[in-house]
Amino acid sequence: MQLTQEEQGMLAGKQGNAVKKSMEILVALGEIYGAKRMIDVSSVQVAGVSYHNLGDAGLEFLEELARDGKVRVTTTLNPAGMDMENWENLGISKEFAEKQKRVIDAFEKLGIITTCTCTPYFIGNLPNFKNHIAWSESSAVAFSNSVLGAYTNKEGGPSALAAALTGKTPEYGLHLDENRQAQILVDVRTKVSGTRDFGALGYAIGKKIGAKIPLVFGIKKANIEELKTFSASIATYGGTGLYHIKGITPNRTAKPKERITINKEDIEKAKAELNDSAGTEIDLVAIGCPHCSIKELQYIAKLLNGKKVKKETWICVARPIKGIADKMGYTKTIESSGAKFACDTCMAVAPLKGRFKALATDSAKGCFYGRGSNSFKTKFCTLEECIEEAVK
Ligand code: F3S
Repeated sequence: MQLTQEEQGMLAGKQGNAVKKSMEILVALGEIYGAKRMIDVSSVQVAGVSYHNLGDAGLEFLEELARDGKVRVTTTLNPAGMDMENWENLGISKEFAEKQKRVIDAFEKLGIITTCTCTPYFIGNLPNFKNHIAWSESSAVAFSNSVLGAYTNKEGGPSALAAALTGKTPEYGLHLDENRQAQILVDVRTKVSGTRDFGALGYAIGKKIGAKIPLVFGIKKANIEELKTFSASIATYGGTGLYHIKGITPNRTAKPKERITINKEDIEKAKAELNDSAGTEIDLVAIGCPHCSIKELQYIAKLLNGKKVKKETWICVARPIKGIADKMGYTKTIESSGAKFACDTCMAVAPLKGRFKALATDSAKGCFYGRGSNSFKTKFCTLEECIEEAVK
């Protein structure tokens, strides 16, 4: 691939070891995918933050980069393995906490904003339409490409970090307009409303079309919370990093020839398949996958007002959004009920295996990772039903 003089200098180590290593990663990626050149990125979101996934080798790699590396663009982190302040209350061990803190310290030294969230768009890491970016978290990638109209591939942790340290990414995949056209038309012939329905819709479409880019017809309206959960679900169960919804998302696309239909039965089947907890007592309720918006916190506070939870209940959220909730009094209401905030983390990336048996959540993606990472049985509920389950 063609490199500018500046990029060649980076590769030769003229800007330090961290930049050299980063450029090596990006050039290798570019060559694998046939990129002709590097392009500038304006925003990065780095995954691979939980010590649970990184291990000691990952931690040492980060600490080595942090010796001379500094990020060049706005960069935030994906959720970590624990709430960075409230970890003891959430049952995290001291040994794990020490390692996780070292991971975050290394990221901080690199100049990264150490807010750990899968909804970076709620905390100011918000690209403009057609901005090239390098994000890692699959739900955030689908959201940014589809709802914000930014351009990103689904980066791995190292390639996102390399993009942050150089301000560059190889131009291939979803950075190119010709790869962003819809490949299949999805005709939705049933009403969907609320986060559970949109999660079920993402599941049903994802299972039918895999990683193809869909143009979805038949959705009359969708709010940000519904689009956030749809992004998470379609990326998890299908694998696409981009979708179009007629009349709702901003990208232009031609109408594809291939066509499928989604009807009421598909949505009901999706809901049924995400429920496998019958016969097992729910012992964990988790809301906020992807991390809650302030509107969701306001609504959760309203639902919990004056009630007491009887089960471990986690509200997963970015710390700055909880900061707004603190000021608005929502935190006080939520915590008075006994529910706990899980900032910086979530029920899937925290090491919870063996602590709980069955999870109730309104997130289709949460069901997938709850089952996969922590071996939970799952109950797929509406947000209101999650609260009813918690206080039952
Ligand atoms: Fe976010 Fe964890 Fe869900 S990273 S998308 S809350 S699985």
